[in-house]
Amino acid sequence: MTADFLIIGSGIAGLSLAIRAAQHGSVICLSKGEFMESNTAWAQGGIAAVIPEGLRDPGDTTENHIADTLDAGAGLCKEAVVRSIIQEAANTIDDLVHYGVAFDHENGAFSLCKEGGHSHRRILHTRDTTGYAIATALLETARKTPNLTLLENHFAIDLITTGKLGMVTDDRVLGAYVLHRETGEVEVYRSDRVILASGGCGKVYLYTTNPDSATGDGVAMAWRAGADIANMEFVQFHPTCFYNPAASGPEARSFLVSEAVRGEGAILINHKGEDFTLRHDPRGSLAPRDIVARAIDYEIKRTGAPCVYLDVRHKPPGFMAERFPFIYSTLLKFGLDCEKQPIPVVPAAHYHCGGVVADVSGRTTLRGLYAIGEVACTGLHGANRLASNSLLEGNVMARRCLDEMLAHANPSRGVMEEIDIPAWEYGDTAAPDELVVIYHNWDEIRRLMWDYVSIVRTDNRLRRAATRLKNLKKEVREFYWGHRVNADILELRNLVAVASLIVDCALRRRESRGLHYTTDHPGLKPKPVDTILRKF
Ligand code: FAD
Ligand code: SIN
Repeated sequence: MTADFLIIGSGIAGLSLAIRAAQHGSVICLSKGEFMESNTAWAQGGIAAVIPEGLRDPGDTTENHIADTLDAGAGLCKEAVVRSIIQEAANTIDDLVHYGVAFDHENGAFSLCKEGGHSHRRILHTRDTTGYAIATALLETARKTPNLTLLENHFAIDLITTGKLGMVTDDRVLGAYVLHRETGEVEVYRSDRVILASGGCGKVYLYTTNPDSATGDGVAMAWRAGADIANMEFVQFHPTCFYNPAASGPEARSFLVSEAVRGEGAILINHKGEDFTLRHDPRGSLAPRDIVARAIDYEIKRTGAPCVYLDVRHKPPGFMAERFPFIYSTLLKFGLDCEKQPIPVVPAAHYHCGGVVADVSGRTTLRGLYAIGEVACTGLHGANRLASNSLLEGNVMARRCLDEMLAHANPSRGVMEEIDIPAWEYGDTAAPDELVVIYHNWDEIRRLMWDYVSIVRTDNRLRRAATRLKNLKKEVREFYWGHRVNADILELRNLVAVASLIVDCALRRRESRGLHYTTDHPGLKPKPVDTILRKF
């Protein structure tokens, strides 16, 4: 399989790029599972944008949005990147409307809501299923786009580079090995522009708001191929994941209650009904996420209660069903009427601010490799992402990435097409009784990350995690090389790699900044620096 553009991922970043790139050459866009299994499709709150005057919240400006983003990022945002992405926000909304996303309206104008860390109402949304609306519109557009091949259940295993083939030349990407999950065959996909749009890695943690597909494959692949990785320690925990110990099934365990609910007036209370967040920040329940998640963690440890509560009982009857129908009806399905009962919530891993080092156009440190969306670390989010800036980043980076690729065609393309890429070598078939090792290790990684590397960290716990992960990595490596690959083995291999990178970065940061909080180094260092991991 050969294409001018090989895109790994079908969330907002991957599909936005695929639709545009197909006007300039052949595109293959892969999704390791079903197309709609992505963080994008699960997004609830919306997309942050300061829209034209007259339509926006009076007094809001792009400068305000930039300032809020920088403030949330705790000194580590790259201001030029923040400006560049946020200034494109209104164009992104135009794009999405053009693809058919029906954002909600109120009194003839876009309905705008607020989330933590935002000084104004500026989140456009489609009720509480904004991501589903975006993913559906992009997928429908993509399906009608000529020159674009969409392949579900195609799992990218590893990048193919000249370096890996032992060629003495500037290292660059030539394509990827891809597992077709239905046939079990691994094929070579060739392209001199490979774009990682593979999303985040919430599944590294036991409790997460992310779908099962979020196993950090892009970061792991890029690292193995030699690209720089940065700021992996900044894992964002969303403050309000539904706490439902009686639940069974992943939907129940990972159900998010959008921050937009707090934007509409819900408040966090403890089991005594106290608004404890005000003890941590004057913005209370609407402080940036790192602060609110830490406040909850503190409150849970202080009181010994298993959760805190999100209280919307003061809103008028019918409000939740009208404004947040998905959340309202899902909670009802789990037996909770949020108009009458406070919603039990706990923080859960939600978003990854670190990732593959990339500029705003997605250019990584490895030639021919681009990274866009959540997999990338551009400097937009710094040490903590401002709510609803992520869908925005995915769309803006897709536009910029295409411009960059078109402006810099690869001069040695003809030569590269002649390079002989070896076929995949299959290991032995896995004996079914050994598969239990995969499930055991998967569970162990996620549990140890939750216990040792979550909201509040210590050197001791991080070192313990590092030692255990080293052993797990060895076990997984032996398993990987000894068996025929399948999606479970591949995800386990990527999970252990990403968990190790998170711990490695966390051990290097000897301060508490944004999402990285350690009781051993509670202060801020005077100069903010990125944690960069370089393989070669
Ligand atoms: P994704 O949408 O995650 O897409 C990744 C794609 O890569 C998937 O198609 C997956 O199958 C594919 N993939 C991964 N690995 C491989 C592989 N090895 N081979 C082939 N394909 C692969 N952000 C906001 O801005 N606003 C919100 O309101 C909001 N709400 C959220 C609510 C929830 C519950 C969650 C989980 C996240 C939310 N976020 C929100 C964050 C936001 O949704 C994501 O950061 C964003 O959608 C990421 O987009 P993406 O295109 O980078 O990746
Ligand atoms: C939410 O709806 O609370 C999620 C918003 C985000 O992650 O940006």
